[in-house]
Amino acid sequence: MQDRTPSPAELDPIERASLDELRALQLERLRWSLWHAYDNVPRYRAMFDAAGAHPGDVRELGDLAAFPFTDKAVLRDNYPFGMFAVPREQISRLHASSGTTGRPTVVGYTADDVRTWARLVARSIRAAGGRRGDRVHVAYGYGLFTGGLGAHYGAEELGCTVIPVSGGMTERQVMLINDFEPDIIMVTPSYMLAIVDEMRRQGIDPRGTSLAVGIFGAEPWTEDLRGEIERQLDIHAVDIYGLSEVMGPGVASECVETKDGLHVWEDHFYPEIIDPVTGEVLPDGETGELVFTSLSRQAMPVVRYRTRDLTRLLPGTARPMRRIEKITGRSDDMIILRGVNLFPTQIEELILRVPQLAPHFQCLLTREGRLDALTVRVERRTGVEPAAAELAGRELAALVKNTIGVSLAVDVIEPDGVERSMGKMRRIIDHR
Ligand code: DLL
Repeated sequence: MQDRTPSPAELDPIERASLDELRALQLERLRWSLWHAYDNVPRYRAMFDAAGAHPGDVRELGDLAAFPFTDKAVLRDNYPFGMFAVPREQISRLHASSGTTGRPTVVGYTADDVRTWARLVARSIRAAGGRRGDRVHVAYGYGLFTGGLGAHYGAEELGCTVIPVSGGMTERQVMLINDFEPDIIMVTPSYMLAIVDEMRRQGIDPRGTSLAVGIFGAEPWTEDLRGEIERQLDIHAVDIYGLSEVMGPGVASECVETKDGLHVWEDHFYPEIIDPVTGEVLPDGETGELVFTSLSRQAMPVVRYRTRDLTRLLPGTARPMRRIEKITGRSDDMIILRGVNLFPTQIEELILRVPQLAPHFQCLLTREGRLDALTVRVERRTGVEPAAAELAGRELAALVKNTIGVSLAVDVIEPDGVERSMGKMRRIIDHR
């Protein structure tokens, strides 16, 4: 793998600033952001007043804890534009989160917000090992989803050549990678695996392409999958995180030189970890729900937005900003099976320890009598005989039993048997 570490001179000044400078900037921006929300969004004013929290009382960053939380329900209640803090004619872009049920949540950006977003994605791509002049294949979906356009503007801002492929048409993805010779691919990790399978089908060696870096996000993925992708493609596999309500991709990103969790771009987003049940702020290092307050957004500030993502805050390494640990899952994706909590990422980790199994899988939940049951449907790797695959299935069930402590059924199916996603993979199918 190529050395892709950026030189310190290439970084934004704030990426090299001291923690004191960073905290001072955050406090100044936090005050601005709270006032901006209070003065311009009636819903925030009502929520702050009801909680007895006033922007004028904020003396230090910890004072944020007195303010109420915001969540998807608050945004949905004010659908579509009720949370905007600027007049409509200043909104230069709208995005919306998928919203599998009911109304989507709508996100607005001013022209300045779009510029800030582009700069932060450029910073993220540079952290991942991208540089001016690189060719960037964007296979995140374009549209209301923030992945495609977010990656696109960021890559352009960094001075890259953007190839805006979007998701889908996997055969063509492979042809374009072969012909346009990109250095970087930005795509969900599950769709990357589908592209690798298609390369093999076309007789192309995935290790022999021009790709040097993959920037993967929009869904949880594990260290084991990083190892798998890096081996299969001979590239750096780097994590990028974000959510539409807070901006889109580029809220936090991994650095290629450390690959040890994602640095939160804290000059624009203030992170907290809370106990998801009590709402109490937890100290750094403890696992809980990630909460964000925007520090610079004009069109749609968010105050203590509950992401539902579970992780913990760790000190900075490659950058002074704190890191979040790779996200294990969303609280919404937690399966509770006979009292044991489990996430699809834990299954992914174990599947990758059984060499006969491919990391294409889904978790099927059913009810048998009064008990919930879980079946993991997973593909055998190409070339593995059905009999060996069945043994591998038993091995996986035993691994799950021994490490997580629950019994489940494993259904090993033929290669290509699990439907491929073009974007975010749906891991849980609930038939209860
Ligand atoms: O997925 C934004 C994005 C696009 C991020 C492309 C990275 C790359 P939403 O559709 O609003 O936005 O979904 C946000 O996806 O709350 C997490 O649950 C999950 N998610 C995003 N990135 C990661 C990641 C985009 N790196 C939701 N690891 C978030 C784990 C992730 N989960």
